[in-house]
Amino acid sequence: MPQPSVSQHPLVHVAVTRLRHRGTAPADFRTLVGIATGLLLYEALADLAVETAAVETPLATAPGWVLARPVAFVPILRAGLGMVDAATRLVPDSQVRHLGLYRDERTLEPVVYYSRLAAGDLADTTVVLLDPMLATAGSAVAATGLVKAAGATDLRLVGLVGAPEGVRALAAAHPDVRVYLAALDDRLTGAGDTWPAGYILPGLGDAGDRQFGT
Ligand code: PRP
Ligand code: URA
Repeated sequence: MPQPSVSQHPLVHVAVTRLRHRGTAPADFRTLVGIATGLLLYEALADLAVETAAVETPLATAPGWVLARPVAFVPILRAGLGMVDAATRLVPDSQVRHLGLYRDERTLEPVVYYSRLAAGDLADTTVVLLDPMLATAGSAVAATGLVKAAGATDLRLVGLVGAPEGVRALAAAHPDVRVYLAALDDRLTGAGDTWPAGYILPGLGDAGDRQFGT
């Protein structure tokens, strides 16, 4: 079974620690999401294919490179929205294909309510799903199915905190998706825990609520 890449970068560890803190306010939380996202994407995109493209400096011709294939970021709303600025700063020519998904609070099943994807849109494109939380992976599995239906074949998911249950479920459903995380936590909540079932433990709470102050 494919394993996720869990960042060992000290700045990622520090950012996640501050994200987890129950007292971190939304403005700081959003900043930290951006910092961790940029660092994770640096790792997740380290093998992007490039083509040589010479460049004229004011003095002479220098060797240079351009990306060989387009890059599309697919933020899963709401919480993935907070990762978009960091992503587009790193890859300014990228596309952003928003995908609206929430999980039903009772069943934990994903519900799709918005999609900027169409058949063939993502063929021959490096596609990066952005979602801070990989819990049951219901959302990630559904999102992956939708981007594959849009033609994606080179697929990565960048998240902040994952649960082992979600990592296993995503790998079982879509073993070709490369997963990059800032932290892999202990388990999901269930019967007997104080939080409702399906939250990541110790986690950081509800990533959407914590970013947007809801
Ligand atoms: C959160 C999170 C993921 C999903 C993870 O979104 O951002 O999309 O839960 O859970 P799963 O792995 O069990 O599917 P949520 O459904 O709370 O929606 P929101 O971002 O709009 O708050
Ligand atoms: N969604 C979140 O925002 N947090 C969790 O712990 C699980 C799902």
